[in-house]
Amino acid sequence: MKDDVVICRCEDVTYGQIVQAIDEGLTTLEEIKRVLRCGMGPCQGRTCSRLIARIIAEKTGRSMDEIGFPLDRPPVRPVEIGILAGERDEA
Ligand code: FES
Repeated sequence: MKDDVVICRCEDVTYGQIVQAIDEGLTTLEEIKRVLRCGMGPCQGRTCSRLIARIIAEKTGRSMDEIGFPLDRPPVRPVEIGILAGERDEA
């Protein structure tokens, strides 16, 4: 893959930036997220986390199971504040 391929579209993070971070010793999704902000965009990593995990696996020789995925935190989809406040039903 070319270095300029964008992996995290929300935060405009490229493959080359992720590989450089791994080469500098960041080898978990959380570490890479904290430094590069990938996974912190509007999609909250739903688009890029799996790709980043795969890059980590390739570069470190670890399995995808070893790398793991961050847990999705609710709400997993946009919810109006009135629904959270109990003023309205979601239906
Ligand atoms: S593509 Fe990475 S946070 Fe959305």
